[in-house]
Order: sequence, then C-alpha cells, then structure tokens
Amino acid sequence: MNQHAARLQYDTGSDHLTLRDFRRLAQFINDYSGIKMPEVKKTMLEGRLRRRLRATGCPTFIDYCRFLFDEDGLEQEAPLLIDAVTTNKTDFFREPAHFEFLRQRGLPDLRAQGINSVRAWSSACSVGAEPYTLAMVLADFAEDHGPMSFFVLATDLSTDVLASAQQGIYPLSMLDPVPTALRRRYVRVSGAVRPTREPRARIVPELRSTIGFARMNLMDDAYAVGNPMHIIFCRNVLIYFDKVTQAQVLRRLCDCLQPGGYLFIGHSESATGFDLPLRAVSNTVLQRIPS
Ligand SMILES: C[S@@+](CC[C@H](N)C(=O)[O-])C[C@H]1O[C@@H](n2cnc3c(N)ncnc32)[C@H](O)[C@@H]1O
Repeated sequence: MNQHAARLQYDTGSDHLTLRDFRRLAQFINDYSGIKMPEVKKTMLEGRLRRRLRATGCPTFIDYCRFLFDEDGLEQEAPLLIDAVTTNKTDFFREPAHFEFLRQRGLPDLRAQGINSVRAWSSACSVGAEPYTLAMVLADFAEDHGPMSFFVLATDLSTDVLASAQQGIYPLSMLDPVPTALRRRYVRVSGAVRPTREPRARIVPELRSTIGFARMNLMDDAYAVGNPMHIIFCRNVLIYFDKVTQAQVLRRLCDCLQPGGYLFIGHSESATGFDLPLRAVSNTVLQRIPS
C-alpha cells in the first residue's frame, strides 16, 4: 500500500465532519433535494459520504468539503453526493392495501369515468419495485377487464437507483411478495446461476416496455410529465421533507393529477392540513376532487 492509500484508509476511517462543514453540506442537500438533515444525522451523513471521499481521492472530510465548496467541485459531484445520501428502501407490493384499492375500486372507477388509456406515475421510484408492481397490477386488470392500455412513468432523483430500475433485475427473494400468478406471468429467473450467488430474476420485456424512466427532482418548480396523470404514487419520500416542502410537492403533484384521479402517499405520511383539491377515499389514498 502506498503512503497516500495508507493515509486515505486511516483518515476516512477516523475522520469527522466539522460542524461548519456539516452545516454547509446539510444546507446544500436540503436546497437540492428537500431532504432534511438535522444535526442528529451527522454521523449517518459521515458514514454515507465516506465512499465519496474514496471516489474523489479526498483524504479527509475537510479536503472533500474544500473540493465541493472552494474548488467548484460541487456541480460535478452533486448527483453522486445526492445518490449517496438518499434512502432507497423499497419492496414489491409494499403497502399492499394500495394495490388492492386500485384493483377493487380505483381502476373500476377510472373505467367508469370512461378512461381506457391509463397514465400512472411513480414519482420516487427507487430501484423500480413500485413502478413494476403498478405495471403488474395494471396489466393484470387490463387482461381481465380490457380493452385498456396503460403507461407508467417512473422517476427518481437518484441516478444510481434509476439505472438499476431500468435493468429490472432483482435478487429472487425480493420477488417473494409478488402473487404467484403475477410472478409466473411477469418474472423470469435468469439463466446461469452461480452456486455462491443468490438467483436473480428479471421482469419480462413486455412489462418493462410499459414503463418510461427519467430523472426528476420533486424540488423542481413544476413537473414535466406531459398530460395529466390518472394515478400518482408519491410514497415514503414526503417524510424526508419539512412541512412547507411537503405542501409544495403535494400542490405540484395535484397540478399533474387529472380531476377524478388518485394520489397514493406512504402509510406514515399525511396530506391533511394543506389546502389542496383532494379528498381522502381510503387510508393514504386521495382523489383529486372531480371538477
Ligand atoms: C424510501 S424510497 C421510496 C421508494 C418507493 N416510493 C417506495 O415507497 O417503496 C425514497 C426515494 O425517494 C427518492 N428521492 C429523495 N428525494 C427526492 C427528490 N427530491 N425528488 C425525487 N426523488 C427523491 C430517493 O432517491 C429514493 O429512491
């Protein structure tokens, strides 16, 4: 190991952010992504940024922050820094009551409204479990109650998760929550499986082709999604924002939601107390008040 590498290993293991640098980073992360970064998260932030120190060749947090804030490194580093900071936990059929609501009430109601070309949006899609689940439910409904076509837009701020979402490849065990009939139809276990590695599964191309992936920041002033959506999922991301930001995001989502369309938020999130054209129709399911 050369001297530089040795210093790197030592310093990135024991080094800490100064309070001033932590505050500069927290402010930047909050302005860029809306994610709150209170001081209690300092150790967590240090843990998440250590790999960025290694990747940028900065021996210490002081060097990294100098690179970001004093040497114009921020513009190039921002997406990677944000990738490191975001929490991407997700699952197929996460919060399954939402998909049951869609099947039993939401989709029949959209049909009754005369909509047979459904536009759905997973607005913080992480590695893709949510938009693929949505696509499975929509495809299954279309098969039983067709003719109905659909398109799912899947967006996230993190380029890392979007790249893996687009691949649609997952450890087989991650597909456990998918009902057997849907798994048979929409999932293929991939070819050569090494005994040392967990088998992997891939979403079938026909389902992958119903989803468009794009990078989008919920902090944008307006969301460029084209025609209004009939279904919007914005789950388990509002919790990272403060109340004012939550209200702004929900307002912009409403602007993209067709009257009569449905908005799904996470089970620990709430849209009450904001003056929005939404009515609650089930737990954490809201409908844009029909005009
Ligand atoms: C915990 S995951 C939730 C994934 C999925 N919606 C679910 O409920 O399973 C939160 C996602 O929000 C994304 N995110 C955080 N801030 C964002 C922002 N400002 N704009 C868009 N996506 C953001 C993160 O990159 C992460 O993938």
